[in-house]
Amino acid sequence: MSEKIYTDYLIIGSGVAGLRAAIELGSHGNVLVATKDLPTESSTEYAQGGVAVALSDEDEIGIHFEDTIKAGDGLCNEEAVKILVSEGPERIMELINWGAEFDKEGSKLAFTLEAAHSRKRILHAHGDSTGREIERVLINKVSSLERVTKASFTMAVDLIVEEGRCYGALLLKGDKIIKCFSKVTVLATGGAGQVYARTTNPKVCTGDGMAMAFRAGAHLKDMEFVQFHPTALYAPGIPAFLLSEALRGEGARLRNINGELFMKNYHHLGELAPRDVVSRSIISEMVKTKSTHVYLDMTHLEENFIKKRFPSIYSTCLRFNFDITKQWIPVSPAAHFIMGGVETDVWGRTNIEGLFAAGEVACTGVHGANRLASNSLLEGLVYGYRAACAASEYAYRRQNISNSFESKIDSIEASEISKMREELRQTMWEKVGVIRCGKSLSQAKTKIIPIYEKMTEKFFIDPYTIELKNMVVVGLMITEAALARKNSVGAHYRTDYREKLPGWEKHLRIRKKDTTVEVF
Ligand code: FAD
Ligand code: SIN
Repeated sequence: MSEKIYTDYLIIGSGVAGLRAAIELGSHGNVLVATKDLPTESSTEYAQGGVAVALSDEDEIGIHFEDTIKAGDGLCNEEAVKILVSEGPERIMELINWGAEFDKEGSKLAFTLEAAHSRKRILHAHGDSTGREIERVLINKVSSLERVTKASFTMAVDLIVEEGRCYGALLLKGDKIIKCFSKVTVLATGGAGQVYARTTNPKVCTGDGMAMAFRAGAHLKDMEFVQFHPTALYAPGIPAFLLSEALRGEGARLRNINGELFMKNYHHLGELAPRDVVSRSIISEMVKTKSTHVYLDMTHLEENFIKKRFPSIYSTCLRFNFDITKQWIPVSPAAHFIMGGVETDVWGRTNIEGLFAAGEVACTGVHGANRLASNSLLEGLVYGYRAACAASEYAYRRQNISNSFESKIDSIEASEISKMREELRQTMWEKVGVIRCGKSLSQAKTKIIPIYEKMTEKFFIDPYTIELKNMVVVGLMITEAALARKNSVGAHYRTDYREKLPGWEKHLRIRKKDTTVEVF
């Protein structure tokens, strides 16, 4: 027998988007924030570089707008970008009023530079722990709200949807399934980097929200656009720890294994070229020199400056026996961010009534085909807030909630799950990575389909198995969209279609059709 609970607002995920939404909804009714690990375990917590916002004396909202549009390579939703850059400053000032301590120079906020920004506009905290500071402030604020409850280690398994209307979600706590009925459900489950063998994302980023929404009949958009961060630590047996772009913003340089600087050969902006360009340039150097990595060199920067500006990166690398002040650090690209996701309007509304989405799980179109660095913490704040505003209005118009759901429980051997998970992640990395082509994508599809067929239409209550069921859906959606997009734009680069060919402006959407994935 499963337990039933009722809440006004169910928020799934406790990163920047979910917490910001919770703060707003806390004054409209009872809010449950369900999160599958500790509340802090999220991409937000590990964000290093900072948050982009047009607040410095030398900057303007219009310039932030232009840079974002340029990075998006022609596929941004201009309305969504306008909202991001113009509402961003208010959301950041609010955060500062709630106690966020961004770094300062004297009495003024300190701004740094990252790739493809034409102004210094990245706010940072404790040097390179910006996400942790934002998460700290939001969690404190949420904890002060009487009507908001956080449920840790509570994993959403599936949405409860009947006749195109969402009534909440099935939650898994321990081995107990809880039917959580809500007037409104907000997906804030973050990204899907774990679908790839090499990723900067934490373990929780398995694309659960995208897969749940897909199964429930939501439309997903722009799934072929995955951003690969150029500089993640490369060393056998060591995680792909992120080496922030802010290091290059402060002067770090890329060298191939022969010690040669190479970025100027690829782009006039050198190390600060757009992320996709830097990632592809690194791969090209790796191929040329037959190596597994290149080096990030910051040994010419002042030692004390590095330690003070990047304390967390310095100490984490030291734990892995790399001293960034003295050594060149081996790096190579890793999956970092997905521009696509559950399609929403600029108020977080999906095509399913009562279901909203915000943050990395969502696709408002704000990032187009390639995200401008440090725009996503801002996205979580701006669109978490907006989704909550629209959700609270929708809840007042809400009808009674349904409560029918029963399912038989399936299981698959743990060893088989691990094997399929690794096969999926490796396939995605090798065939649907930084550089793709029709042949590699078709090969990926052939490997992914049997896993998809084995997992889909089943109901599991083991978190690791549920994650694989979600990851394979997301992997398949990325692959299908990448196959369908027969041109190269933004972060999607195909060697068999190297240019933007006629029709490139069309966005690709994905939905469930019978038991398969339909691109439309
Ligand atoms: P997240 O912060 O990832 O939160 C998702 C939440 O959902 C988590 O709490 C997770 O546990 C929960 N969850 C997932 N599935 C379920 C489920 N089934 N049931 C219940 N809960 C679930 N962006 C910037 O703007 N600036 C940066 O400097 C920056 N640096 C980054 C560094 C790293 C290492 C990484 C990985 C990303 C970085 N990004 C940065 C990107 C940015 O951090 C993320 O895009 C953003 O934080 C996403 O916020 P979110 O709230 O959408 O998701
Ligand atoms: C970084 O610090 O390089 C990550 C910034 C981002 O992904 O926005």
